[in-house]
Amino acid sequence: MDDLASAAPRALPVPRFKRHFSEFIGIGDNGHLWVEGRDCEELADTFGTPLHVISENQFRHAYRRFRDAFQAEYPNVEILFANKSNNGLAMRHIMNQEGAGGDCFGYNEMYVALLAGSDPAKMALNGSNKEAAEIELAIANGVCVNLDAMDELDMVDETARRLGVDAEVGIRVKLELPGLIDRHSTGVHHGSMAEIVWGEKWGMSYAQTAELAKRIRDDMPHLHLTELNFHLSRLDNQACDFAEMARDMVRWSARLRDDVGWTPSCLDLGGGWTFGRKEKTGPRGGIDDERVSTFEEYGAAVGQAVKDECKGHDLPLPKLRIEPGRSISGMAGISIGRVGAVKEWPEKDSKWVNVNLSGNHVPWITIPHHYHMVPVNKADAPAVETVDIVGPLCTHDIMARARQVPSLVRGDLIALLDTGAYAESQSANFNAQCRPATVLVSGDKADIITERERLEDVMGRFRVPPHLLAQSFGKGE
Ligand SMILES: Cc1ncc(COP(=O)(O)O)c(C=O)c1O
Repeated sequence: MDDLASAAPRALPVPRFKRHFSEFIGIGDNGHLWVEGRDCEELADTFGTPLHVISENQFRHAYRRFRDAFQAEYPNVEILFANKSNNGLAMRHIMNQEGAGGDCFGYNEMYVALLAGSDPAKMALNGSNKEAAEIELAIANGVCVNLDAMDELDMVDETARRLGVDAEVGIRVKLELPGLIDRHSTGVHHGSMAEIVWGEKWGMSYAQTAELAKRIRDDMPHLHLTELNFHLSRLDNQACDFAEMARDMVRWSARLRDDVGWTPSCLDLGGGWTFGRKEKTGPRGGIDDERVSTFEEYGAAVGQAVKDECKGHDLPLPKLRIEPGRSISGMAGISIGRVGAVKEWPEKDSKWVNVNLSGNHVPWITIPHHYHMVPVNKADAPAVETVDIVGPLCTHDIMARARQVPSLVRGDLIALLDTGAYAESQSANFNAQCRPATVLVSGDKADIITERERLEDVMGRFRVPPHLLAQSFGKGE
C-alpha cells in the first residue's frame, strides 16, 4: 500500500494497519476491522447495528486522486461529484471543502447541495423528466440545466424570462458510439454498449440536439448553451471505452459547429468510472478486480483522446466535466451487521449466518454486485467453513454467498466493504424496516451524520381514512 499511502491527503497520516483494504480502512493490531482510528466493534457497540460508516479521509483521498489523475493529462477538468451516490449533507460539505462541483438529479438533491453551500457554477441538473419547480430552483440559483426533452427547452425559456435572468443550459445527448457497437458490457446489462445507450430513456439524438441548438441560437439570447452531456452508466471498466465515448463527444462538437455554428465550450462526460478491489469481490464481483483501469489510466486515456480528436477536427480544447459517483464515495463506506441465528443443515453441507444488515440497507446486493465481506471482530482469524450470510428480510436476502469465514456466533459482527455509494442513498423500508444510522469517522472522531430511523418515522406516514376507522372502531356499520 506504500504507493497509495504516499498519495493520501496531507491532512491526516495514513494509519498503519496489519492489512489495508484501502488507505484508511484495514485490520488493526487487535485483529479487528478499523476505519481510520476507530475499531469497528467499538463503533457498533456505541452506535448500534446495522450501521453505515464513512471514512472522511478515504472520501477526500478518492476525490483528490481522481481529480489529480484527470488534471495530470488535461488541466481544464472540473469534477462534479455525483451526489446521488451518497447525498448526505455532511458528504456534500466535504466535497465543497475539496472544491468539487456536483451533479444533481431532482429538486431535493439540488436543494441539499445548495443548502450545503455548493457553488452553483460547478453544478449541473440532470434528469429525463424535470419538473417546473426544479427547473426554477436551478435557474434562480445559476445551476446549468442539461436539457433532456424537446419541450424542456420551452420550460427553461419561460422560467428564465419570468425570472428575468440569463440561464446556463447544456444538452444531454444520445451518442451513436460506432466504436462501441461490438463492445459488450461486462455486467448487469446485456447487449453491446452502443445498443444499451440507444435503448435508454436519456439523451437527445443528433438531429434533436441540432434543433435545440438552433432554437436557442435564433430565439433565446438569454440562454447560454455551453455543454454537451453524456453518461454511459456503469457498463464497463476499461479506459479505452471511456476514451471512445469522449472521442464521439468531440465528433458531435465538430458536426454541430459545421451544421449549426455552435461549438460546445464544455464536454461533460458523466460518471460510471469504476474502481477495482484485489479481493475480487468488489462491485460486480470477480470483474472489478485489480485489472480494472485505474483513475490514472482513465484520466490519461480520456484526456489524450479529447486532445487528439480536437486536433483532428480543428477544434479548440473544451473544458471537461466529469461526474464520478461510486469511484469517489464507494470505497469510503462500509456497512456493519450483527450476527444473530446461525443455522445449519449438515447433511447438505449448508450453513446460514443471519445478520441484521439487509438488502434494504445495501440494495445493490440484489443485482450481481457482491461486496467483500470482513468478519469485524475476527478479521484475521483463519477461515474454517463456508457459509451464506443472510439478512432479515422475507426475501432470500443473500448478503454474501458461499464465503469462507472463521466460526461466527451470535453477537459477532460482519462488514461489507465499498458500500459508500448507492447504499444509504438507495435504501428502502421493505418489511417496515428502519434505515440504519451513518457515522462519519475522521481520525479518532466519530459523529452521526444520518440519524437511525425510528418506528415512528416509518409508521408516521401511514394514514387510515375515516370510513375504515369507522368500520374498525365505530358504532354500527
Ligand atoms: C448523469 C449521471 N452522472 C453521473 C452518475 C454517477 O455514476 P457513477 O456513480 O457510476 O460514477 C450517474 C449515475 O447514475 C448519472 O446518471
